[in-house]
Amino acid sequence: MSAPDLVIRGGTICTASDRFVADLAVKDGKITQIAAHIDGARDVIDAAGLLVLPGGIDAHVHIAQEQGDGTVMADDFASGTRSAVAGGNTTVMPFALQKRGESLREAVRNYHTLAEGQSWCDVSFHMIITDPTPQVLGQELPALVQDGYTSFKVFMTYDDMVLNDAELLDVFDVARREKALVMVHAEGHDAIKYMTRKLEEQGKTAPYYHAEAHAQIAEREATHRAIAHAQLVDVPIVIVHVSGRDPMEQIQWARSRGLKVFAETCPQYIAMTAEDLKGLNMDFEGAKYVCSPPPRDFDSQKAIWQGLRDGTFDIFSSDHCPFYFEGENDTGKNNPRARTSFKWVPNGIPGVETRLPILFSEGVSKGRITLERFVALTSTNPAKLYGMYPQKGTLAIGADADITLWDANRRAPIRQADLHHGPDYTPYEGMEITGWPVRTILGGKTVFADGAMTAEAPQGRYLSRGFSPDQI
Ligand code: URP
Ligand code: ZN
Ligand code: ZN
Repeated sequence: MSAPDLVIRGGTICTASDRFVADLAVKDGKITQIAAHIDGARDVIDAAGLLVLPGGIDAHVHIAQEQGDGTVMADDFASGTRSAVAGGNTTVMPFALQKRGESLREAVRNYHTLAEGQSWCDVSFHMIITDPTPQVLGQELPALVQDGYTSFKVFMTYDDMVLNDAELLDVFDVARREKALVMVHAEGHDAIKYMTRKLEEQGKTAPYYHAEAHAQIAEREATHRAIAHAQLVDVPIVIVHVSGRDPMEQIQWARSRGLKVFAETCPQYIAMTAEDLKGLNMDFEGAKYVCSPPPRDFDSQKAIWQGLRDGTFDIFSSDHCPFYFEGENDTGKNNPRARTSFKWVPNGIPGVETRLPILFSEGVSKGRITLERFVALTSTNPAKLYGMYPQKGTLAIGADADITLWDANRRAPIRQADLHHGPDYTPYEGMEITGWPVRTILGGKTVFADGAMTAEAPQGRYLSRGFSPDQI
């Protein structure tokens, strides 16, 4: 066997199923050997005392996504993926959004143009379908699935993206035929509109009321409706960004009947509650926490932890959706219109860099989940669910050498000043974290180490994907 390019020496290798001390060798960007001792490499990284983990896969991020109202997202592909690798990720899955009236193929092409040559980690797109015309459903979508875009998201709310029930059923039907995986944003549009109107009539316009307008009942109802439609059509779905106990119970109900319903949750649902949207005293600081679905209460946090442990949740993603607070040209969260009503505050919070540290610290360091479960939720399961396994998501011979070295004992608070993302704030400012990534390796090359980017130029590749298995 020819000499390896790199040996990572003496770390604790951890996968979704095993943990052991060993050396790991890399050649031509792939893992070639895992053994008690490996000699003869050109480069050696001493990983004694560190965890050696498969690189994080963040399966739900929004980068450079155009907003209907002209609001500018605070990350382009350069800053979004830089922030991702600084947070221990080696693959991200942003969305290619089809605007109404636009060809889906054209939308995908546009996002490729934005990502090309800009990405510091590997990238693969989900599509977002907002205009399911006969042309899109009959031709573009099937062709794109065949080309390796094997997942797409649909929305049950937002004026410029919502699909009605008939459209959802038609889209699910194409997914079943083409074996694509549908991700569902499950919140009931009419219920949210009704709540918003009632709250505004009472003068309740502060950011906090976003949480009341996007009631958990509306999420529960939409989750049930999405599941019922999927059952009718006989297609697997993923319910994304599940926020609390009520929608979780719908997912558990579906699973108990043998339905293929996968589930995702996010850091905001374990690290925040709706109280955060109150800011200091119902002031505009609360806008920094506005996302959909909104964070709920401590009972829901407890339920989410149980779901992370018992397998109700398959994956843990950031739903990184970055906006400026102060804003560029007054389009950030603190824009003049947003001050008139919570309904104009851009929905979404940044989190691609803090996803892994928050789950590790709150989960592994505090004994709520095992290290193996952490790896499963943040790397192995996303790779399986979205058709990238075993090239991604594990440490095994032949896999891509996408590796994160992790210091389980490093303690430091989250600080905006230390982050690498585009937005001008983090909703997690000051949160104490035990356990941080210290080196991110993409295809055998270190791209980030000890707080700084080390790669000279973006080397991330675009990944065409396979289909998801029946079970993960
Ligand atoms: O508030 C959120 N999550 N914004 C991002 C878009 C979405 O629904 O995922
Ligand atoms: Zn969503
Ligand atoms: Zn999202």
